[in-house]
Amino acid sequence: MLKVGIDIGGTKIAGGVVDADGRIVEKLRVETPVAPAQLADAVIDMANHFAAHHDISAVGVAAAGFVDGDRGVVVHAPNIAWRNEPLKARLEERIDLPVTVDNDANAAGWAEFRFGAGRDVDDMVMLTMGTGVGGAVISHGTLYRGGHGLAGELGHIRFIRGGRPCGCGQNGCLEQYASGRALQREAGEIADGGGIGAALAELRAEKGAISGPAVSRLVLAGDPGAIEALRRVATALGEACGGFQAVLDPQLYVIGGGVAELGADLLDPVRLAYGTSLPGYGDRPVAEFAIAELGNDAGLIGAADLAVTRD
Ligand code: BGC
Ligand code: NA
Ligand code: ZN
Repeated sequence: MLKVGIDIGGTKIAGGVVDADGRIVEKLRVETPVAPAQLADAVIDMANHFAAHHDISAVGVAAAGFVDGDRGVVVHAPNIAWRNEPLKARLEERIDLPVTVDNDANAAGWAEFRFGAGRDVDDMVMLTMGTGVGGAVISHGTLYRGGHGLAGELGHIRFIRGGRPCGCGQNGCLEQYASGRALQREAGEIADGGGIGAALAELRAEKGAISGPAVSRLVLAGDPGAIEALRRVATALGEACGGFQAVLDPQLYVIGGGVAELGADLLDPVRLAYGTSLPGYGDRPVAEFAIAELGNDAGLIGAADLAVTRD
């Protein structure tokens, strides 16, 4: 049985045809349009393209925002211009298949739990480090949704009191300290400071801006400024995981998103900060940390797997 999964991110839309084992049969990727109507058009075109070439039973859409899946509404999106956007209704007008809408990190976490790094545990937390910080909570083998469907927004816990303003309307959210964008910001601040920031400053002078992938390349090349920028965001994430442990007590944290491509360079400082922030350290079982195995495809695979077919 084939389903379509489409992951709408802050910068790109990734879609694919996915089989019952989480394997991708065909895949497409386009830039995310800014206006909600054009964005819906892009998703509709993609879904209808796949439906024309395969026998599809349902479409699952993963969106980077607070999603009420029962109504198929994106209630709020910190990094996309959606406010109570009736995404499911908009899409079903022009897609002749049932459409399910889910949060992107919930979809990615579900995919990792079913087919990836979390396949051997019952309780896991997924964190995605990209434009924002996404979260998913798998508890006793089910995706935890909360009373209004909006649970698992782990990027919007207040991490620093009186901290940086966030796209959600609050301030000090974890997302402002542990996302791919936070990594770019830290790199910029280190570049301003001279010293270990020399290579980052040179990069910025040359390209006009410091991209996330450029910071990652410098980390892999051993640049001390880039490594320090990464240490700062990894530390923020690890400290937050110490707190999540107190609430959720997962067996495993799966880390995804663009920053996770750094692998052990990211996980080592995350684990260190987690350990030093863990309530009851030394007496309690600690969680494992793993990099997402499905990479950028996790969101679309999970969205497809979570998509509900008509019976
Ligand atoms: C949003 C989440 C989303 C995450 C990753 C956050 O800013 O609040 O809904 O999962 O970014 O895209
Ligand atoms: Na989530
Ligand atoms: Zn926030």
